[in-house]
Amino acid sequence: MSSIYVTGGKPLFGALRVQGAKNSALPILSAAVLAEGVSVIRNCPKLTDTEAAVRILREVGCRVWQDEDALYVDSSGPIRPEIPSRLMREMRSSVIFLGPLLARCGEARMSAPGGCEIGARPIDLHLSALRSLGAEIDERGGNLDCRAARLRSCRIDLPFPSVGATENALLAACLGDGETVITNAAREPELRDLEAFLNSAGASVSGAGSAVIRVQGKADLHGAVHRIMPDRIAAATWLAACAAAGGDVRLYDTEWRDYRPVLRSLREMGCELHTGENLVRIRSLGRLKAASPIVTRPYPGFPTDAQPPLMAAALTAEGTTAFQETIFESRFRHIPELRRMGADIRTEGRTAVVWGVPKLYGAEMCAPDLRGGAALIIAALGAEGESRICGVHHLDRGYAAIEKSLAELGAETVRKEDGDG
Ligand code: EPZ
Repeated sequence: MSSIYVTGGKPLFGALRVQGAKNSALPILSAAVLAEGVSVIRNCPKLTDTEAAVRILREVGCRVWQDEDALYVDSSGPIRPEIPSRLMREMRSSVIFLGPLLARCGEARMSAPGGCEIGARPIDLHLSALRSLGAEIDERGGNLDCRAARLRSCRIDLPFPSVGATENALLAACLGDGETVITNAAREPELRDLEAFLNSAGASVSGAGSAVIRVQGKADLHGAVHRIMPDRIAAATWLAACAAAGGDVRLYDTEWRDYRPVLRSLREMGCELHTGENLVRIRSLGRLKAASPIVTRPYPGFPTDAQPPLMAAALTAEGTTAFQETIFESRFRHIPELRRMGADIRTEGRTAVVWGVPKLYGAEMCAPDLRGGAALIIAALGAEGESRICGVHHLDRGYAAIEKSLAELGAETVRKEDGDG
């Protein structure tokens, strides 16, 4: 196990390229199962989550290799419709393989993903959407045994714009006959990226990014070449880090239109933000001000994944900033850790109010989950003294070497194996 050590109090300066989006790469890697051929996936971030997805691709019979430019997935051969629980346990979002396996093989077996650190993460909306498409699904003993001799086109009205359920329904509907319409679909930008990949593989998808997605089923799909979109949550993380530590940072290879609510809150806090083509520049000089209440919502609202990083930036702002987490029921687990640095945060249910303090002090903390871990590092950057953050495996799921990215901006962030002096 390893920890990241942060020596706070140093402003950040410089430029950083934003990694490819984890939450686009994962559904696109599962979509590659649908394509009978070789898909070339560029800008795929090197994360433990994408490595887990590659292990699943190999397990079901795909050949996968990579070079410095891209990841290659050959799904020409026979595909096995089963994911063993040891691989499902590695990454709960592997449920996104259900739709493609059903569509390609007519069956799929996997263990039901459990909950995780941020919530119960049910998959009822996934299963009801697939049943609407004609799948028979047995849920027994924590396993999913799915069969669909032929998926039929239909209309799927999602009661909630679930990202994963939208993706699973969309992927399952790509192979088949007729038109499937998904209403109240998730509108996150990652859906647009998935649509682009699928259409370059010969699918006929339209409307992704809006609340209504239409899919014309096809007999088969071929390999595609695709570049993964930039990671909007990684960008929000680096911007929050500069806001907290101070400094002047430029992010490139980023689509700022994908995270306008985050830019709005940072501007309210007193940061200077300039946006250009695939570029954002942030300057944070002097003490921040509190922002107006931040309420997480499905896209295009404030993204839940950016709630912990923005909370970290608000800890020493002048005034109080309220956060309301409406998406996940247990996404405040970074708060007790932040209090160890002297943060003043009061919670009631899904609302947390940050009372800005003049200064934070370095502390020993442990990352509770992916984005909560990022919040601890961001707060440590702006604190006085040294902090140690353990549980780095959470961070490695979503950031490619977070300590190196921050060190590129002048941060004193070092990873050490636990037990090293
Ligand atoms: C995706 O998760 C992302 N993960 C999450 O990012 C992100 O926070 C989330 O979308 C919301 O934007 C990936 O894309 C791999 P949902 P997903 O289905 O698809 C409830 C990160 O840090 N729900 O939109 O699981 C669910 O409990 C991760 O990168 C049901 O009730 O999100 C939650 O309260 C964290 N039944 C809400 O909907 C279902 O069948 C949103 O979930 C499905 C979801």
